[in-house]
Amino acid sequence: YYNVNLRKPCPFWTDVSLCGISDCAVKPCERNELPPGIKMESYKYSEEAYAAINDPEDCEKAEKLGAVDEFLSEDARWALLDWSKHDDSSDNFCEADDEQSPDAEYVDLLLNPERFTGYKGPGAWKIWYSIYEENCFKPRTINRPLNPLASDRGENEGRIFYNWLEGLCVEKRAFYRLISGLHASINIHLSTRYLLQDNWFEKKWGPNITEFQRRFDVLLTKGEGPRRLKNLYFIYLIELRALSKVLPYFDRSGFKLYTGSETQDAENKKLLLEVLNLTKSFPLHFDENSLFAGNRKEAAKLKEEFRLHFRNISRIMDCVGCFKCRLWGKLQTQGLGTALKILFSEKQIEKLPETSSTHGFKLTRQEIVALLNAFGSRISTSVNELQNFRELLQRV
Ligand SMILES: *[C@@H]1O[C@H](CO)[C@@H](O)[C@H](O)[C@H]1NC(C)=O
Ligand SMILES: *[C@@H]1O[C@H](CO)[C@@H](O)[C@H](O)[C@H]1NC(C)=O
Ligand SMILES: *[C@@H]1O[C@H](CO)[C@@H](O)[C@H](O)[C@H]1NC(C)=O
Repeated sequence: YYNVNLRKPCPFWTDVSLCGISDCAVKPCERNELPPGIKMESYKYSEEAYAAINDPEDCEKAEKLGAVDEFLSEDARWALLDWSKHDDSSDNFCEADDEQSPDAEYVDLLLNPERFTGYKGPGAWKIWYSIYEENCFKPRTINRPLNPLASDRGENEGRIFYNWLEGLCVEKRAFYRLISGLHASINIHLSTRYLLQDNWFEKKWGPNITEFQRRFDVLLTKGEGPRRLKNLYFIYLIELRALSKVLPYFDRSGFKLYTGSETQDAENKKLLLEVLNLTKSFPLHFDENSLFAGNRKEAAKLKEEFRLHFRNISRIMDCVGCFKCRLWGKLQTQGLGTALKILFSEKQIEKLPETSSTHGFKLTRQEIVALLNAFGSRISTSVNELQNFRELLQRV
């Protein structure tokens, strides 16, 4: 159950035409469909519950301060909340939806799968165009569109482009690769759940090899397809490392899952820790210390630029004209943003004190859902589907 606001206005342009394609529709949950734990208790580990509260009296009434040390004076408590609110925002790579907004809704991700919706044309084009051309550190001197969807990219331009990319600092190159990996992942899903049959009695989704080749074949893409797939593995490694690093956060005795049933909570937590523990058995983790190293001041400046660029991309998701695509776009950018937050937070995660509830590293429920689903149901699934395409192609 992902809490999301699909009705936020696009902050960058006004002509977002919401497509009328029925496959774009998202069905939000009714309140009575939600597990009791979410209805009642999601505040307990959600930071933004605090951020959304402006009136201390309201807040007292709603007893939303349960997680704060009760021995603090009223003033100190508010100062602390204010401070952690500010402090946390400097850690964030995404602009998160405000869960308290009347427009925010819970969506059951299993009932709203990501698949081919028919959303294309100028609207979809503009999203990727803004991401690649305006938010990927592209200098004015490069004429060639970064956007792989652009068709007017000459051979020579390609060489210049890759020279430029190679010349970039490792962080900016990593940024480009993350975006490209995300794009590749989304395109693999759309090729796997292509609308193959659409007649009055049945809609059928399945793999479309032609579509896959159009996007990834070495010849059809002038050598770019394999690079895109490499970037998919890159984003996989980044998210895998984040999951491995964040394990101690979930391992604290204070961390609960709030399904509404104590036994179910304990069981789910055990399973979650087991899954996260599995990531440790992988030997070749991405080393986040290789980024933003070197001269402290320059590294800090670069990190801030990186963060602001990514935040901006998370806002562009509100401009996607198809609700289903917007939902998954938001989830996947937030999942990646959460992974980046985990990797690059200045706060201690690996040795969290049991009781740190206010100053330490924090994740909201929304971030946790995005992180786990972005990795589990999206990037890992893409890697798996890739294998499936390999087998299908061998048979052709
Ligand atoms: C954010 O993205 C929009 C849309 O692409 C772009 O016009 C704007 O310049 C970007 N802002 C920053 C601060 O990067
Ligand atoms: C597969 O995708 C291509 C576009 O890449 C499309 O022209 C074709 O009709 C699709 N095939 C099926 C069976 O839907
Ligand atoms: C974590 O994995 C290691 C092996 O990689 C295993 O020895 C250990 O028991 C696991 N711990 C938990 C809590 O599952």
